[in-house]
Amino acid sequence: PHKKITSICCIGAGYVGGPTCAVIAQKNPHVKVTIVDLNAGRIAAWNSDNLPIYEPGLDEVVKTARGRNLFFSTDVDAGILEADLIFVSVNTPTKIKGIGAGFAADLGYVESATRKIAQVAKSNKIVVEKSTVPCRTAQSMRHILEANAPPNIQFDILSNPEFLAEGTAISDLFYPDRVLIGSLDTESGRSAAASLADIYAGWVPRDQIITMNLWSSELSKLAANAILAQRISSINALSAICEATGADIDEVSYACGLDSRIGPKFLKASVGFGGSCFQKDILNLVYLSESLHLPEVATYWKQVVEMNEYQKRRFTNRVISCLFNTLTGKKIAVFGFAFKKDTGDTRESPAITLVNYFREEKAYISIYDPKVEESQVWMDLTEPGVVDETEAVKRQVSIAANPYEAASGADAIVICTEWNDFRDTVLDYEKIYEGMKKPAFIFDGRLILDAKKVEKIGFKVETIGRPRSTFTQSKDFE
Ligand code: UDX
Ligand code: UDX
Ligand code: ADP
Repeated sequence: PHKKITSICCIGAGYVGGPTCAVIAQKNPHVKVTIVDLNAGRIAAWNSDNLPIYEPGLDEVVKTARGRNLFFSTDVDAGILEADLIFVSVNTPTKIKGIGAGFAADLGYVESATRKIAQVAKSNKIVVEKSTVPCRTAQSMRHILEANAPPNIQFDILSNPEFLAEGTAISDLFYPDRVLIGSLDTESGRSAAASLADIYAGWVPRDQIITMNLWSSELSKLAANAILAQRISSINALSAICEATGADIDEVSYACGLDSRIGPKFLKASVGFGGSCFQKDILNLVYLSESLHLPEVATYWKQVVEMNEYQKRRFTNRVISCLFNTLTGKKIAVFGFAFKKDTGDTRESPAITLVNYFREEKAYISIYDPKVEESQVWMDLTEPGVVDETEAVKRQVSIAANPYEAASGADAIVICTEWNDFRDTVLDYEKIYEGMKKPAFIFDGRLILDAKKVEKIGFKVETIGRPRSTFTQSKDFE
C-alpha cells in the first residue's frame, strides 16, 4: 500500500515547473500544490493576470486552480516543510566555465535545491527530479539528501522527465504520449513511483504511465530529444542536396514520412532547430559519452549539432550570394525571432545566429516578431556584462512594430520563424513589395510561402531546400 499524496511542492516556477504543476493542480483538486521560486518577480507575475509564460490554454488552467489548491510563493522553506512530494524543476544551463564547459549541465541549482530540501525537511519526502539532467543526477541527489538529513527521515528519489514542447505545453500535458517514472528497484522506490503515478492517473490513462529504473528514465529524456533533433539535422542535410540538385525537400520529406517506419513528424526542413532543450540535451549526451570513454558515440551525436550550425551558415551564405555578394549597408528584414512559432521564447533561436552573421556583414537589420519582447532581443544580441554593447547593436539593429515597417526600404526579407502571421494568405505581400528596394528578395527559411504566388508579385523567392531561383546552379554557395 503506497502513500496517498495530499500536498505537493514544486521548486522552480519556470517553463517546466509552472505549467506542469498548474495542470497537476487543476486535475487533482484535492491535492494542494505550491510552486515556489527564489525569483520574487516571477512569483508576482504568476500571481497576476499577466503570467510570466505565454502558453495557449495556460491562463484558463491557472485561473481555475489558483487560490483553490494552487499557490505561488517565494517561501521555499514552507513549501518544502508542508509537502509529501517535491518536484525539483530548477534551471540546468550548460556550463560556461570549468570542466565540461559548453557541454556539461551546470547542476549547481539542482544541488542547492536538493541541499535545501535536506536542511528543511522534517518528515519523509518523495523528491522528483523534473529538470532535464544528465544520467545519474538522481543518484547524486540521493547522496546529498542522505548525507544531510536527520536519521529518522526517509527520502525517495524519482525521475519524471518532462516531454512538453513550448507553444503546446498545455495540450502536451493534457494528452501526453507517455508519462515516465523512474525509481530505484526497491520496495520504497516502487511505492514512491506508485504514489506519483496516482497523481498523473488523475487524467492520464494508466497504460500510458510507464515505470522503469532510474537510469533508463533519465537517459530516455536525453535520447528522445537527441533522436528528434537528429531527424531535423538529417532532413536539413538533405535540404543542402536538394538546393544543389533540383529536388524539393518538402517532396522528399513527404515521401519519406509516408513510410510507416519513419512517420511524417519532425521532418520539416528549416534554417535550424532552436529551443532550450535540443542542443543542450545533445551536448549533455556528448559529454556523458566522453566521460564514459565512448568517443565514437560522442562524435556521432555531436554531428547533429554541427549540422545545425552548418545549416545556419549555409542559409546566410545563400542570402549574401543572392544579394550580389555583399550585405554592406543593405537593409534586411528579419521575420520572426522566436525559436519557433506560438512562443515568445528565443533561447537558442536560429534568428539570433543569423542576425549576428548579418551584422558581421555590415547590414542593417529590422526585426519583427509577434511575441518576443524588445528587451529580450537586446539581451540575445549582446554579451552579458559588456558595457555599451547595446548601443553598438542598436546602430545596426532596430525592432519594428509590424512586418510592413520591418520590410520598408529593405533589400530582402528573411523568414526565420514559421509564424502563421507571415503566410502569404495572411500578410499583404503586394503592399510589402511596394515598400521594398528592387530587386526585392524573400528568403524563406521555413518553407511557409507559396513561392509561385509571391513571385508573381515580383519578388525573388529563395526557399530552403529548393533550388535557387536566381542562379541555376550552386557553385557559388557553400
Ligand atoms: C531495407 C529497407 O527496409 C527496404 O525498404 C528497402 O527497399 C531495402 O532495404 P532490407 O535490407 O531487406 O530492407 O531489410 P530491413 O528489414 O530494412 O533490415 C535491414 C537491416 O537492419 C537488417 O540487418 C536488420 O536486422 C537491421 N535492423 C532493422 C536493426 O538492426 N534494427 C531495427 O530496428 C530494424
Ligand atoms: C522539445 C521537444 O519537442 C520536447 O518534447 C522537449 O520536452 C523539449 O524540447 P521544444 O524545444 O519546445 O520541445 O520545441 P520543438 O517543437 O521540439 O522544436 C524544436 C526546434 O526544432 C524548433 O526550433 C523548431 O522550429 C525546430 N523544428 C521542429 C524543425 O526545424 N523542424 C521540425 O520538423 C520540427
Ligand atoms: P526550465 O525551462 O527548466 O523550467 P527556467 O529557467 O524557466 O527553467 O526555470 C527555473 C526556475 O527555477 C527559475 O525561475 C529559477 O529562479 C528557479 N530556481 C533556481 N534555483 C532555485 C532554488 N534553489 N530555489 C527556488 N527556485 C530556484
